[in-house]
Amino acid sequence: MGKVIRFRLNGRPVSIYVENNELLLNVLREKLGVMSPKYGCGIGECGACTVLLDGEPVLSCLTLAVEVDGKDVVTAEGLARDSDLDVVQRAFIEEGAIQCGYCIPGFILVAKKLLEENPEPDEDFIREYIRGNLCRCTGYVNIVRAIKRAAEELKFHVGKNK
Ligand code: FES
Ligand code: FES
Repeated sequence: MGKVIRFRLNGRPVSIYVENNELLLNVLREKLGVMSPKYGCGIGECGACTVLLDGEPVLSCLTLAVEVDGKDVVTAEGLARDSDLDVVQRAFIEEGAIQCGYCIPGFILVAKKLLEENPEPDEDFIREYIRGNLCRCTGYVNIVRAIKRAAEELKFHVGKNK
């Protein structure tokens, strides 16, 4: 049994039939072709499936699709504007923070929220904030550096716009 849900996905309205027990991760990837949220562990331990739900990071492997009815879902696909990458996406590339890339969409979305909460994070804050996201490749050093770089760039842009 299921129902039609309506929500905004990366700024666009979506209307889709889902089963009551269907997971958001599966609906995004298999029914809507949104591939940046990844299946890592399926049990809430790796963060690879992270999406923003009404601006808050959630694990889409533990979220029922019916729960997003009427809400706003953002995935990494929704961050770039036209062909311009988001400042956090750019910082990850510029700092060489991406190896296999499997974990990166989740990190980037968590980093967006982190910078919204704390525009001047130090290393300890960043490491604590991203502790729910696992990366098997990078050792986290460049990921932390990328988040700091994004913070610097955002500060620079805000300063310029004053
Ligand atoms: S796949 Fe969702 S937390 Fe690992
Ligand atoms: S870059 Fe490979 S798991 Fe993080």
